[in-house]
Amino acid sequence: MHEYFIQNISYHKDEVVKLKGWVYNLRKSGKIWFLILRDGTGIIQCVVTKNDCDEASFDLKDVLTQESSVMVTGKVIADERADGGYELIAHKVELVSIAGEYPITKKEHGIEFLMDQRHLWLRSKRQHAIMRIRHTIIKSIRTFFDQRDFTLVDTPIFQKGATEGTATLFETDYFDDKAYLTQSGQLYAEAAAMALGKVYCFGPTFRAEKSKTRRHLTEFWMVEPEMAYYDLDMDMDLAEDMISYIVAEVLMNRRLELETLERDITKLEAIQKPFPRIHYDDAIKLLQARGVDVQWGDDFGAPHETIIGEAHESPVMVHHYPSAIKAFYMKRDPADSKYALAVDMLAPEGYGEIIGGSQREDDYDLLVERMREEGMDPANYDWYLDLRRYGSVPHAGFGLGVERTVAWICGLSHIREAVPFPRTMSRLTP
Ligand code: 4AD
Ligand code: MG
Repeated sequence: MHEYFIQNISYHKDEVVKLKGWVYNLRKSGKIWFLILRDGTGIIQCVVTKNDCDEASFDLKDVLTQESSVMVTGKVIADERADGGYELIAHKVELVSIAGEYPITKKEHGIEFLMDQRHLWLRSKRQHAIMRIRHTIIKSIRTFFDQRDFTLVDTPIFQKGATEGTATLFETDYFDDKAYLTQSGQLYAEAAAMALGKVYCFGPTFRAEKSKTRRHLTEFWMVEPEMAYYDLDMDMDLAEDMISYIVAEVLMNRRLELETLERDITKLEAIQKPFPRIHYDDAIKLLQARGVDVQWGDDFGAPHETIIGEAHESPVMVHHYPSAIKAFYMKRDPADSKYALAVDMLAPEGYGEIIGGSQREDDYDLLVERMREEGMDPANYDWYLDLRRYGSVPHAGFGLGVERTVAWICGLSHIREAVPFPRTMSRLTP
């Protein structure tokens, strides 16, 4: 059996092929009509005339509707004027299923309408481009870690407690007990790093984000590498290498899709190592110098991240945040315990935080102290404390949010288009 796809059509010039897909558009003009066919891999114009094709096929022009499914057999012809450089001279058009009146038309639709039709909206050119770039980003992340001998370790989605604070936990019944949906696989990735050295987990994570912003989903995908014997600098080196690799892979493999999205490619080409590394204190000074009302000790919100990120062409790594505004597991700087050995990577062009990471607290007593400060009960994390009881070592890791990365690389104005079926505070369907 041979399958033919539009994306490979140039290999079949002057051959007769059978394409299977859907009607993207129809244009009729008397003795000739044009079926714009999409098959998921691309779009091609099929020319239908009585000369080249049987009568039943020709008469389908009065029946076919947008998104009806059809199979077209015909000859591949090179034509400079055609979109993509090729068209098909149809010999036969076979109807598979007639589509009812399609809700998404050529006219402008509002975003909420399109989101309600997300299951159909995914059939559009723009959404194809985003999904393919997302695919390439995920694939490049996996290749990146694979090439560096990381082991993939899957972490549980049902968890007993919080990793990133109790405010955003999703609670669920668990037989006679309660469980929470994972906010992060990190604590388990730490256990795996003590077992295997260099690991990563990659999966969906859940946060009951009550804020409606262009950067927050309630369900998002996160990749979290964790490395034994790594300090903060090594962690930042890895994050920078990974982002550079992802951007290079997208630029190499997804040019057409970036063009479809009208992405300013020069902005992505400008991303070069080394990325600026800015101490939190200097980030505060930078903000104050721009007239922002912010004090030492404040956490950064989206407007702050935008200003810091916009000051540079490459992503920026802000490190040494005050430990009081960072998670319990982050190691405090032995030189000055006001600071955590933490890093956030902020994307350019106002996209804000894409990575959060740190060196981890590897001292048992200090970790218990930090848990108590955060109002956590160390007894609930006994298995995690075992990692400090049995052969504790310096280690570090980070988490990259996939949808924020997709939104930034694709140049999307909102994160909801960066995932096939977004979940937000106000959206659980489709
Ligand atoms: O900074 P966060 O909360 O870090 C962690 O979860 C650590 N446990 C990671 C680690 O060190 N292993 O989240 C990491 C990243 C953010 O930088 C952001 O890109 C993304 O996850 N993220 C979200 N993306 C979409 N919607 C949300 N609500 C997100 N919250 C975080
Ligand atoms: Mg963070």
